[in-house]
Amino acid sequence: MKVQVIYHSQSGCTEKLARGIFDGLKCEEKTLHNLADGVPETDGDVILLGYWVDQAGPCKPIRELAESLEGKHVGLFATMAFWCDSNHGTKALQNGAACVQEKNTVIGGTVVNGHMSRKMIDMFRSMGAGPHSANPASEARWELLKDHPSEKEIALVAERFNERIQLLEILREKGVAFPGVAI
Ligand SMILES: Cc1cc2nc3c(=O)[nH]c(=O)nc-3n(C[C@H](O)[C@H](O)[C@H](O)COP(=O)(O)O)c2cc1C
Repeated sequence: MKVQVIYHSQSGCTEKLARGIFDGLKCEEKTLHNLADGVPETDGDVILLGYWVDQAGPCKPIRELAESLEGKHVGLFATMAFWCDSNHGTKALQNGAACVQEKNTVIGGTVVNGHMSRKMIDMFRSMGAGPHSANPASEARWELLKDHPSEKEIALVAERFNERIQLLEILREKGVAFPGVAI
């Protein structure tokens, strides 16, 4: 079973998560691809796609790749700066799943917190009054999440993907299709 971890990252959060997942994968054949280095041939049995959340959905490079996939077993992972367990976080994951689930089988997906980049924080601080401008709650959140994704979050995502890949292997031996995970 070959697993490809493919990600895009602007400020390092998704890259940290992707590398942690890759290191934690127990499968015999695995590869790691940063889309900044070009689009790899997607010849894996399982494709794990990692994106940073851009306006409640996948960043463009991953969205474009996701929409081009067909007949694959796909897992999704993402980082975002707002609370990952919020409605916004759920939507950010669902919007990623929507890019692949019609033509592929989704084996699972998790969104975790990343930190807000310095550039974005400076932009929010320079905005006048408005729904997205910096405020005491956002300032506190940026500080609390400054080291995310955490090692525990990374380990959780790796554990989930290992379980799903194991399940896929078990079902393949039995000639049973993997029941896609509705996100
Ligand atoms: C243009 C832009 C749009 C973003 N949109 C969202 C968003 O809708 N929701 C959110 O929670 N975070 C949003 N973020 C924050 C990033 O998703 C978050 O900081 C992420 O962890 C960055 O990952 P990276 O370090 O791999 O680039 C946005 C960041 C940028 C630069």
